[in-house]
Amino acid sequence: MQSVTNSPKVALHEPSFTGNELAYVKECIDTGWVSSVGGYVDRFERELAEYTGARHAVVVSNGTSGLQVALQLVGVKPGEEVLIPALSFVATANAVSHCGAYPHFVDSEATTLGLDVAALSDYLDRVAESVGDVCINKRTGRRIAAVVPMHTFGHPVDMPALVELAARHRIALVEDAAESLGSWIGDRHTGRFGRCGMLSFNGNKIVTTGGGGAIITDDDALAKRAKHLTTTAKVPHAWEFFHDEVAYNYRMPNLNAALGCAQLERLGGFLGSKRKLTELYAQAFSDLPQVRLFAERQGTRANYWLQTLMLAPEVADQRDAILKATNAAGQMTRPVWNLLTTLPMYMACESMPTPVAQDLARRIINLPSSPHLTGAL
Ligand SMILES: Cc1ncc(COP(=O)(O)O)c(C=O)c1O
Repeated sequence: MQSVTNSPKVALHEPSFTGNELAYVKECIDTGWVSSVGGYVDRFERELAEYTGARHAVVVSNGTSGLQVALQLVGVKPGEEVLIPALSFVATANAVSHCGAYPHFVDSEATTLGLDVAALSDYLDRVAESVGDVCINKRTGRRIAAVVPMHTFGHPVDMPALVELAARHRIALVEDAAESLGSWIGDRHTGRFGRCGMLSFNGNKIVTTGGGGAIITDDDALAKRAKHLTTTAKVPHAWEFFHDEVAYNYRMPNLNAALGCAQLERLGGFLGSKRKLTELYAQAFSDLPQVRLFAERQGTRANYWLQTLMLAPEVADQRDAILKATNAAGQMTRPVWNLLTTLPMYMACESMPTPVAQDLARRIINLPSSPHLTGAL
């Protein structure tokens, strides 16, 4: 990737393919098993389940499609609302929209960069009411069907508190764990606190399949439905083409799963290298009081997917100058996403006040984070 004309000298996040990637992909090509079924698909699902501790992993075409299907499977219906952080990548909101549902935005918490569970609890006490088993937004009259926390740059949200809150309001919990493969709360992997979680293997993620995703769950029936819905709802048969509902072709090709298997073998190395990089950056910035490297919370283990520099409030107005200077010098740095509440298709959606998310959005700079930067890989 670094050879592309005009690409920066130090990229934000580059994949590393120096393990078995080529051998496994070549095997797919040599045997002809390049498409929607194959041994690597089964193996990648098995190994993802083993690594995360989930009973099941169902691999899919990408994280966005996985989140859409996950939301449908926990019962999100068109016209309902789904609580998501205002500070997230656009795909979190798009997956909600693809279900015909409406995102309803939640503020962030400064120590996790994710959804603020305490603020959400106070907010729901004000704006929502229980009607039987259903949580209703009193303003819109719509059901609040689900909540989707997202583990920003691999830093886990306070999931035990959110599990309790979601149960109290009878709201389904689905995790957007796109960025957090390798991030844990205690001995539980992110993505395993709700009914199901989604992982992404996009090219910029800690483990990549080129493009791809997975739904992880302990729920046998949900996993079976996820496989069925994402593979055109074909009823298994040696030659008959019988499909029993309108469904999706969201399958992950064997070629991509082969890449995933080889990458997963190297996840431990990637995680170690990213942790080392965090230490190196923290040291490098230690005598600059106006900046701080964002660190994992006690009791959690972050994957440090993207290294995150927090500017002190008094230098937040320098953010764009820093971005400009570093990129001009060949170091690819990036701001965090524009808040989803500011995007044209989402600005009219329901939202709680988002002062913390707005503040964080002004102060975050992501630094080059490729695992090879420490020289260990
Ligand atoms: C927070 C978040 N959610 C969802 C996605 C969507 O994943 P994908 O690109 O695999 O569709 C991504 C990454 O791309 C992401 O960072």
